[in-house]
Amino acid sequence: MTNIKWWQTAVFYQIYPRSFADGNGDGIGDFKGITEKLDYLSSLGMDALWLSPHFPSPNWDCGYDISDYCNVAPEYGTMQDFNHFLFEAHKRDMRIILDLVLNHTSDEHAWFKESKSSRDNPKADWYVWLDSHLPEGEGSGEAPRSGVRVPPNNWQSCFDGEAWTYVPERDQYYYHYFMKQQPDLNWHNPEVKQAMWDAGRFWLDLGVDGFRLDAIGTIYEDPHLTPHNVPMNLAELRRFSELAKTPKEIKLKEKYWHEMFKNQWGQAGVHELMKELRAILDEYDGDRVLVGEDDNIDFMGSGRDELHLVFNFPLMQTEGLTPDHIRKNQKERLSKLEALSAGQGWGCNTLGNHDSSRVYTRYGNKLHDTELARLHAALVLTLKGTPFLYNGEEIGMTDYMLTDISQVKDTMGSWYYHTIVTEMGVHPEEAMLRTAEMTRDKNRTPMQWSNNLNAGFSPAHVSTWLPVNPNYKNGINVLDQEKNPSSLLNYYKHLLHVRKSSVALQAGEYIPLHPSAKEYLTFLRQSGEQTVLVVLNFSEHALELDFTRAREIKRHNLRLLFSSAERRGGELPPQFKVAPFEVFIAKVAHA
Ligand code: NOJ
Repeated sequence: MTNIKWWQTAVFYQIYPRSFADGNGDGIGDFKGITEKLDYLSSLGMDALWLSPHFPSPNWDCGYDISDYCNVAPEYGTMQDFNHFLFEAHKRDMRIILDLVLNHTSDEHAWFKESKSSRDNPKADWYVWLDSHLPEGEGSGEAPRSGVRVPPNNWQSCFDGEAWTYVPERDQYYYHYFMKQQPDLNWHNPEVKQAMWDAGRFWLDLGVDGFRLDAIGTIYEDPHLTPHNVPMNLAELRRFSELAKTPKEIKLKEKYWHEMFKNQWGQAGVHELMKELRAILDEYDGDRVLVGEDDNIDFMGSGRDELHLVFNFPLMQTEGLTPDHIRKNQKERLSKLEALSAGQGWGCNTLGNHDSSRVYTRYGNKLHDTELARLHAALVLTLKGTPFLYNGEEIGMTDYMLTDISQVKDTMGSWYYHTIVTEMGVHPEEAMLRTAEMTRDKNRTPMQWSNNLNAGFSPAHVSTWLPVNPNYKNGINVLDQEKNPSSLLNYYKHLLHVRKSSVALQAGEYIPLHPSAKEYLTFLRQSGEQTVLVVLNFSEHALELDFTRAREIKRHNLRLLFSSAERRGGELPPQFKVAPFEVFIAKVAHA
């Protein structure tokens, strides 16, 4: 495994700080709590942790609205707590990457407060400011005679209505792709760049191992401000999408989502920016890493000069993880990655994060959820590329549907609820059902550590920031699963151990086999030293499989490395039977 970097073989685990572990008993996760759980993470087999934002924030977007880039949110602790956490993680050979939000700040950031105070302050040009749009026939440069203020164009925020918010002090609008509390920075201004790069350096100097880069696709907007041509606003489009049933409506909804935002993301300039950031990282020792929250492989540049990794979101953006879908996805991704210079492309697979429905719920079928969860874990841990897991998936945490609007913390959800109730006359009960489905709170509930009240996340009777999913009482918690040898948690541990002990699973090529199998997925992972066969049976039937025609296997025997079914270790011929939903991993024993 020469020349392989740590971030290629590492398994990453995403921590959502607010919900991971409450060390001081106030109902909110914190660094004390996270630090106390490092032994758990290390025994699970995690090599690296990605922390969602831990910076001071008014929390309109749960930390993705940062009001100070060089500090720790008081509810999470102090800089000293952070440094202690970093030290303890490194001591256990775990790397730490932080979330760097480049596109926007909080409207409570000192930069924005200054910027909005007048048109001629030193930071006047740090955000995207524009005058009111003058209706046809009005003189330019003057306030519209009619006195009617009109936003610069019809762009929408993807979270809460119009993308422009008026500020009387400047008599101008500022632009926000996300909530109005998240004004977009003006990245054309070199001072903005400098300030943000300084913030990055602040954490790199402390020793963090890299960054996950938030929303990089939205950093620049169409300079011509071309309006969208969708005959709806955001709330209407969301509602239309919820009600879309026929194939025609579904197609139209997809077209509208694309059309509505196409001028607000993916614009020129961002690759140069990523190159600058990469150059900064490369000044540091220790192979620090940049992971883009984007699936566009173009963000990897030549393979050496932009980001190290981008997520394979197309893998998870599907209603059903079928063998066909996965094969097609791998073919497309891997061929693009291979086209990058001198083998510099490397994949990054994930099935869930803080923005998406939990793996267990989303890809379950209500009949075989347990088996499917095991199959999906094996998928993400055996495909070629760096796996990212989301906290709680290792114990099978599920989405938790809120039932009352007062519980909703994800502002995007409460905005939608109030808009459809007040502007569209949707009945509050129905609106709540829709909101519970769309809000990201459902997949951000506190981590379930034990069978004690509050799932051991916070002391009993403390009111936690989001309700705890009551299914912690039914074995969906760490402590109960640690004691149970056949639990999902122990299954993850075992699988992670198998991955770690296999060069081929960590770094080998991916060679698909049986390309038209509908019920199962099978492939080889092959490195110079080792060949491993993986079979994932997605069906509820036992299947007879025959690998005698596979060149790499032929008459070789297979030596079992892992099976989710009851199967004894030892040698197997290249024809064998797999159990329903079995995960089968074997070494191809070279003669
Ligand atoms: C992507 C983050 O993952 C999401 O949680 C956040 O709301 C937006 N970017 C805005 O920062």
